[in-house]
Amino acid sequence: MSRYEQSRLLYERACRVLAGGVSSEFRRYSVPHPLFYSTGNGSHICDVDGHEYLDFTLSQGPLILGHSHPAVLAEVARASSAGQLFAGQHLAELELAEELASLIPCAELMRFSLSGSEADHAALRVARAVTGRPRFLRFEGHYHGWFDNVALSISAPRVEAMGPRDAPHAIAWTQGLPANHGEQCLILPWNDLDLAERVLRRQAHEIAAVITEPVMCNNGCIPPAPGFLVGLRHLCDELDIALIFDEVITGFRLGLGGAQQRFGVTPDLAVFGKALASGYPLSVLAGRRRWMQPIAEGTVIHAGTMNSGQPSIAAAQATLRVLREQNVLPRLEELGLGLMHGLKDASHRAGCPMVIQGLGPMFHAGFTPLAQVCDFRDTLTFDKPKYAAFVAGMQDRNIRLIGRGLWYISAAHTPAEIEHCVATAYDVLKNL
Ligand SMILES: Cc1ncc(COP(=O)(O)O)c(C=O)c1O
Repeated sequence: MSRYEQSRLLYERACRVLAGGVSSEFRRYSVPHPLFYSTGNGSHICDVDGHEYLDFTLSQGPLILGHSHPAVLAEVARASSAGQLFAGQHLAELELAEELASLIPCAELMRFSLSGSEADHAALRVARAVTGRPRFLRFEGHYHGWFDNVALSISAPRVEAMGPRDAPHAIAWTQGLPANHGEQCLILPWNDLDLAERVLRRQAHEIAAVITEPVMCNNGCIPPAPGFLVGLRHLCDELDIALIFDEVITGFRLGLGGAQQRFGVTPDLAVFGKALASGYPLSVLAGRRRWMQPIAEGTVIHAGTMNSGQPSIAAAQATLRVLREQNVLPRLEELGLGLMHGLKDASHRAGCPMVIQGLGPMFHAGFTPLAQVCDFRDTLTFDKPKYAAFVAGMQDRNIRLIGRGLWYISAAHTPAEIEHCVATAYDVLKNL
């Protein structure tokens, strides 16, 4: 019988009523099949077969305080008992917006939504409205949600399919896109300021926005090259193009003011989600007054029945309070950097070296012949089957990882757990 027998049976049952047995594409790829979980507490999550895992998935990032943090759950329960959704304004929403405005450099005006995908969509819409230009520049391997205009060049079968570096093909991530889906965006490799400058200068008249993850978290967790973000900032200023930072992962991990505060580069618009509300549905589009003005005036429509519901707003307030009062972020970074170092060292000792990149609170691990990866094309050298075998080995030893190599740290992880993880990784790598 499989170690994951109960999950296997439930998954079989799920496939009869849930398309593919899951509710998000990214949940499909667990090995040997998607597992069913029953409880989460702190840095641990339990499956229905009775295994308890040390969790570095953290729900793909949101659980910055760990599972079921008591302060978050208590605040959500308190707020919910007063009503869940008013289709009207409430004080907590205003207070959260005021707090975010004081923390995030670009946040003069903002709007709340449920998901990062929606907020990214709104950011591009408002940039087109302000500039009157139709297109935007984005980068290979960056993820800005699953909507039509950004579901491109997120994955690629091999580097040859991507076209020339200075004029890449837009590779559809999904079937069912509109016929003209590629026309809205220009795509370039990341971290190449000269190339971006050439294209932006040549085509500024039709470009409304440059959208980028400030750290390329979704593929390789690649930091920005020195001068890259500030270079984009100068170009966007000069050419009157909106600079949009997609901080859905970096937000509240790299600093309470996000990557923009950390790197000292203020975008015109920024999108936050994930860690903001500890796993409750909440995202925010925040920006400079000029860029948010059309939404303020109602000439650009942003809406949503479920936006800024009390439980999500309360979860965000509680999360921010703990992050602030317990000064969590320096500890996350220290733990994360320790784990990165430990894994690197263990992988070399085991004769199975991994390339590990990132900033600590989140990082990427993978097997590649390159010394480091600098853009999406480099990440295509990662040996995916080998990493999948590593993830499966860790899972069999009760450590849960994301299959595509991204690791998240939470406030609930301890130095002893980090040590345990490194020792376990050594064991698995030795036998790979
Ligand atoms: C950088 C980035 N932007 C946007 C999104 C989409 O956010 P959501 O899944 O909340 O729609 C994600 C999700 O992983 C992300 O990593």
